Amino acid sequence: MQYEQINYYDPDYKPAESDVVCLYKYTPKQGVSYEEAAEQLAAESSIGTWTKISTMNEKIAHQLKPHVISIDKERELATIAYPIGLFEVSNMSGILSSICGNILGMKILESLRVCDIRFPKDIIEKFPGPAHGIEGVRAIADVHDRPFTGTIIKPKVGLTSEQHAKVGYQAWSGNEGEGLDIVKDDENLTSQSFNDFDTRIKLTFKMRDKAEQETGHKKIYLANITHSHFDEMMRRSDVVKKHGGEVCMLDVVTLGFSAVETYRRKNTGQIIHAHRAMHGAITRQPGFTISMLVLAKVYRMLGVDLLHTGTAGAGKMEGGEKETMVIVEALEKDSVEPNKEMETLGQEWYGMKPVVAVASGGLYPGKIPHVVKAMGKDIVCQMGGGCHGHPGGTAMGAQAIMQAVHAAMSDTPLKEYAQSHKALQEALDTWGT
Ligand code: 3PG
Ligand code: 3PG
Ligand code: MG
Repeated sequence: MQYEQINYYDPDYKPAESDVVCLYKYTPKQGVSYEEAAEQLAAESSIGTWTKISTMNEKIAHQLKPHVISIDKERELATIAYPIGLFEVSNMSGILSSICGNILGMKILESLRVCDIRFPKDIIEKFPGPAHGIEGVRAIADVHDRPFTGTIIKPKVGLTSEQHAKVGYQAWSGNEGEGLDIVKDDENLTSQSFNDFDTRIKLTFKMRDKAEQETGHKKIYLANITHSHFDEMMRRSDVVKKHGGEVCMLDVVTLGFSAVETYRRKNTGQIIHAHRAMHGAITRQPGFTISMLVLAKVYRMLGVDLLHTGTAGAGKMEGGEKETMVIVEALEKDSVEPNKEMETLGQEWYGMKPVVAVASGGLYPGKIPHVVKAMGKDIVCQMGGGCHGHPGGTAMGAQAIMQAVHAAMSDTPLKEYAQSHKALQEALDTWGT
């Protein structure tokens, strides 16, 4: 190799097991070829820049040069293999600044999407992964052989702490019917003047205890501890723990990767529920984006136990069944095959614990069979409007959700199950399937 003229395009190169492999979807600006754009991508994300530089040397070019191993002009895809020596293997921010960094701002491109990153063992092993994983969450929540059920208190913001706790109680207890497993704060409820965090936590856990005593079932309160000041977030985590809470919710995108990993590495013992609010600014096509799949893999590595993933096309948020399933597989499996149609590279997880996928956003009982069929049973079926919008109120909404889950698990059509289950019948009358 003549390092003065670094040639990044090398279709004969076989990636080493330790390489970081990226799949990019890209449209070059008019007048720029796919080859030229791919080489510039490889250069800017690693050792190069826009011109030849006198400070380059043979050693750098030889040891750290990435290889563009394939270019598919029709599908506008390029695969680039990066030698692991380019990265500080335990530093996610540093890694992403390279392969998801400057390149998203390059003006030779009309669009660029980081579709997938295949991380090698040497990087996967440097990250903590979930502390609890699916089995750990099931053991703590005492829910087995069916999806978890949950609600988000609505309105998102505005209720007082007292009202919040009361609505939580209704959802957990189901008014002598079967209540839900989980009650969750919404992503934008933190500690506002109308509902201060410490008061809410105290009152809501009191209601959780009451619901547990009355129903004889374990109940989970998922308090949102998100705060841009990390010390305050840790204080809130301690408050939750002091009240016997096992889960803390983090808005992982707005908090940033460092806060998420730091919280995980504090080893508080808390289950981490990850809400992905603002991910759309990063993940939604078209333009310059990073796929939700990449974010999901990153959050698994950083150590969240549950992550919002979309609803397999059933809810209010963007993302169809195939898109959701790619994410669910990346969270749940130990070994994921590449999927050409979905533009994924596959991933080995080397025993890292799996993450519970959370189906949330615009769901209601009539959608549960579809969601469970598509996403499997190791998920949370979570709905806000689809619980509190029930004509009979929150408790009846909770009953309807549980009934729909039981119907789905016994493969009974909802309409048939509803004949002997009033709450579900009313939900179907209100929203249909
Ligand atoms: C940056 O970080 O802003 C870039 O590395 C700029 O590099 P360049 O001047 O070589 O394009
Ligand atoms: C969420 O945070 O996922 C949403 O609050 C879901 O609310 P919805 O079920 O009312 O759409
Ligand atoms: Mg919400």
